[in-house]
Amino acid sequence: MAMVPARPPWREFWRVRRIFGAGVLEGLTFIHRQYGPFVRTRLPLQLYFVADPACIEEILVKKADRFRKDRTSRLLSRVVGNGLLVNDGESWRRQRRLLQPAFHQRQLQSYAAAMVGAIERAAATWQTGEVRNVHEDMMAVTLNIVAEALFGADVSADAGHMGRIISELMEEFGRILGLAARFQPPAWVPTPANRRFRASARKVDRVILRVIDARRRNPSGPAQDDLLSLLIAARDEDGSTMTDAQVRDEAVTLFLAGHETTALALTYSLYLLALHPECQARVADELARVLDGRTPGLGDLESLKYTDAVLHESMRLYPPAWVMARQALTEVEIGGFHFPKGAEFVMTPWVVHRDPKSFADPEAFKPERWEGDLAQRLPRFAYFPFGGGPRVCIGNRFAMMEAKLVLAVALQRFRFEVTPQTELTLLPSVTLRPRHGVRLRLAARERLDPVPPAP
Ligand code: HEM
Repeated sequence: MAMVPARPPWREFWRVRRIFGAGVLEGLTFIHRQYGPFVRTRLPLQLYFVADPACIEEILVKKADRFRKDRTSRLLSRVVGNGLLVNDGESWRRQRRLLQPAFHQRQLQSYAAAMVGAIERAAATWQTGEVRNVHEDMMAVTLNIVAEALFGADVSADAGHMGRIISELMEEFGRILGLAARFQPPAWVPTPANRRFRASARKVDRVILRVIDARRRNPSGPAQDDLLSLLIAARDEDGSTMTDAQVRDEAVTLFLAGHETTALALTYSLYLLALHPECQARVADELARVLDGRTPGLGDLESLKYTDAVLHESMRLYPPAWVMARQALTEVEIGGFHFPKGAEFVMTPWVVHRDPKSFADPEAFKPERWEGDLAQRLPRFAYFPFGGGPRVCIGNRFAMMEAKLVLAVALQRFRFEVTPQTELTLLPSVTLRPRHGVRLRLAARERLDPVPPAP
């Protein structure tokens, strides 16, 4: 066996550059189709691209303790401080232990009402016949949901306001990341971008720390069942609790990690359903049969099997977290190859999810493929929209429950149609975003006759 993974030959250098220049998704797809599932870059970096499910499992699960997050992900710490998403080592393990109970099934149930409420309020303002940017709509809905889950009924927190200032912070960060493609001055250099970013971060700190302080002073106040209270009350085995700064970092992390990804899963689901009216009709049919016009609740989720398949299939084709990466903390062997400490590995659900070895007709939107036992038959990590191993998305069940409830309410009320203005240009950033949003027309959902109960 070769000692190192394949890399594009020099004579292909310009071709590969040209394809990456056209788009990073096209570039990654090309190198894997052309040079195999484990590719080394020609650049003088210890940087590897991995699209083999077994090797991804080695990195994310079997040898997870040999890795930390990669350098680019760690840049996010400018926004989320030492929050779960970027934390590493012993400190990460402790925080994960402290946060985990907030995502237990019983706790999740308490968020269902907020999820349904947010989409019902939004849908009540939508009009039949109008063309809407559903990406914007879904961002607003999921922002309200995560704000309510975190800060509950706490008026001092003013969930909407909190959402806006954190989004502002993220926008500033996005601009810094954009600049980073060319030059990345350290955070302490007072460039205009860094100054605006710091001002934004201070605003977030002020608001969140004020809320935390109020909660600590009045622990039996009105908002005891939200995520923030759980973070404040969480105790480790030795009885220790989180500092205010750590609670702040985790709250901002949950805000960020929790709302945009779910909004994207919903946006792409609506887009794909609008492109495939026959699939949309099947969802509507299922909703009519299971709910008969009622508002969906937690007890219905199990029965919404086709709706579930639609979400799976949308996240296969458009994984919101389209790329994950890790850096080796020690020398390590992956896929039989040997790598030095510091080597970085880039794993791309976008490429893996479209591999014809795992999925027949991989580019086609076919929710039916998930109705059988496909999920059980697939190799582990042939499909991994939520990552895997110890750092698997802590919010995966929260997200699936939220996405199903929101999709169900939206599709109960409206039919979504493509229009001549509908287009999708992808912007692979921290997440896989639609560059110009997604415009769809809302049509009336003709009420189906309720299915008579079985005799
Ligand atoms: C469809 C929606 C979502 C998708 C596709 C998604 C995807 C992911 C992925 C792929 C990771 C692992 C990243 C890596 O290994 O480098 C992750 C981690 C994480 N996610 Fe999600 N996520 C979603 C929703 C949520 C929600 C709703 C929350 C919280 C309310 C959340 C909170 C987190 C946190 C805190 C982490 C870091 C976990 C750790 O490192 O221990 N996510 N997510």
